[in-house]
Amino acid sequence: MIVTSVTVRVPAKINLQLAVGPLRPDGYHDLVTVFHAISLFDQISVAPAAADGVTVSGEDAAQVPAGNDNLALKAVAALRAAIPRRGAGTRGLASRGAAPDDTPGVAVTISKRIPVAAGLAGGSADAAAALVACNELWGAGLSQQELCEVAAGVGSDVAFAVLGGTAVGRGRGERLTRALVPPATYHWVLAFADGHLSTSEVYGTLDRLRTLPAPGGRPPRMGDSRPPYPPAPGAPGASGARGAAAASGGAPASGHAAESAATAPELSTQLMAALRAGDPRRLGRSLSNDLQAPAISMFPALRKTLAAGREFGALGALVSGSGPTCFFLARGASHATDLAVALSGAGVCRSVARATGPAPGATVIGPQAP
Ligand code: C5P
Repeated sequence: MIVTSVTVRVPAKINLQLAVGPLRPDGYHDLVTVFHAISLFDQISVAPAAADGVTVSGEDAAQVPAGNDNLALKAVAALRAAIPRRGAGTRGLASRGAAPDDTPGVAVTISKRIPVAAGLAGGSADAAAALVACNELWGAGLSQQELCEVAAGVGSDVAFAVLGGTAVGRGRGERLTRALVPPATYHWVLAFADGHLSTSEVYGTLDRLRTLPAPGGRPPRMGDSRPPYPPAPGAPGASGARGAAAASGGAPASGHAAESAATAPELSTQLMAALRAGDPRRLGRSLSNDLQAPAISMFPALRKTLAAGREFGALGALVSGSGPTCFFLARGASHATDLAVALSGAGVCRSVARATGPAPGATVIGPQAP
């Protein structure tokens, strides 16, 4: 069968934990994060063309770069470069598949539902989908692991969008280990904000906030329960036990995990235990995000959004990644509907959506034959 176009569905992600280490010399931060893919999907089609190009429709389409800055096009170029490398030696490029000479390019069509610059890794999702789609279109036969390796060079969150599910990310977020947890479905409500945040600016704000003196006169450490800057509601920029307890609105817990996270972020044992138990109440209490405080300092309206969700009975409330989307854990499907209606009526966000997780990673849903 000659495949003329391939369509891939790809999920948004939220971070159930995002613990951020110090700034590295390369401008990135070491992370320990728990990625969770949710059922909010973009759809991407690729077809042979004379040259690479992209068209975008749907949510926030005008905000997506259309030229070579588009992350999906960068992913196409990265895969094209990876195929001959991988095929070198006994197996040539032809045996691994490649774009035919007369149509060396790819026309990428992106239909967006994931908002742009919203902390949901929408751009990374599109890049992951482009990798999976071109792998199929060109018959390149790269395994998921090999696609994840190419994805890691395209952006920090791209490999996770290939993998999906729930996974622990380390390094920049690109070194992934699938979370070994029993099957469970969690019900989430997303509150989309009226505005955007730049990921690199939120990381930069975190770095600046961390240089401010703490109440005792020493530089603040991750895990400080009383930060010198306006604390996020319930999550004072802390990872680990303190941040987790605070994120649910409880009192900051004591413990060493958050303190040691100042130099080396650590996986929250509380969060992983909640996931292993499949217990939404414990999960809600265990959510934490070091980027929440800087995101709120740049977008103070988020404080009200998070407070409203808690007031309406969310088991947990957190800024997603670098924001400004907030997500809430509901007790079940009907509570998620109630929560979505209440948040929407409270006027604390631009719009709301329900989603379940975990969702599968980038998945081919339609190669089309002529
Ligand atoms: O890798 P990606 O292009 O998605 O990252 C966007 C920006 O977010 C980076 O340029 C960097 O400023 C920041 N970042 C970071 N540490 C990470 C991931 C991203 O500082 N682990």
